[in-house]
Amino acid sequence: MSDALSYLQKVRPEAMQAYFSFLREAGKSLDPKTRALISVITKVDKQTEAGFRQYLKRALREGASANEVLDALLMAFPTLGLTKILWAVDQVQKLDLPEFRIIHPAWHDAASAAEIPATGTLRLECDGRGLFVHSGTNGVRVYDACCPHKSTAIPATGVDGGALTCPKHGWRFDLDSGQCSSGGDRPLAELEHKIEDGRVWVYW
Ligand code: FES
Repeated sequence: MSDALSYLQKVRPEAMQAYFSFLREAGKSLDPKTRALISVITKVDKQTEAGFRQYLKRALREGASANEVLDALLMAFPTLGLTKILWAVDQVQKLDLPEFRIIHPAWHDAASAAEIPATGTLRLECDGRGLFVHSGTNGVRVYDACCPHKSTAIPATGVDGGALTCPKHGWRFDLDSGQCSSGGDRPLAELEHKIEDGRVWVYW
């Protein structure tokens, strides 16, 4: 919250309480991610740097992807115009958030094929990315260890037989399919892989 808003809250508490209640009520039918994306657009429109950073991070925490943020900005082109959109992209680049880095897809040498258990799950780090290599009823599958809820890096201790549980809010996933079996509504991100020359290669 800005210093000015804090000041107004102290000197005009009733009026400011009504203002915040209005904002809560106005967005009550929207999910948190959509609310945050709309707030991002309003901050770009006013070009308030601190507010933009705050709501951009909130939108990402609420599950918005970099492409969804960019889509929201581009969709608002008729009202924002190119100059304000470029201002927002400048702010994003200054923040250097990993979600917005340009990645050139490539095959990554993740592990020796001999490390893959006949049945079970291997947690590994490869070129800065956490992975689960799971061997089960659907053969070998490779998943991003990043939780699809709020991007928590799920540790090896989350594996329990054929299930994986994120420690942050308890979303549970079926490792044979990657589907979320309880707690949430999005699957693990599965990554393309191949086994070649005794190595496990993963593409992203
Ligand atoms: S971050 Fe919320 S369940 Fe994983």
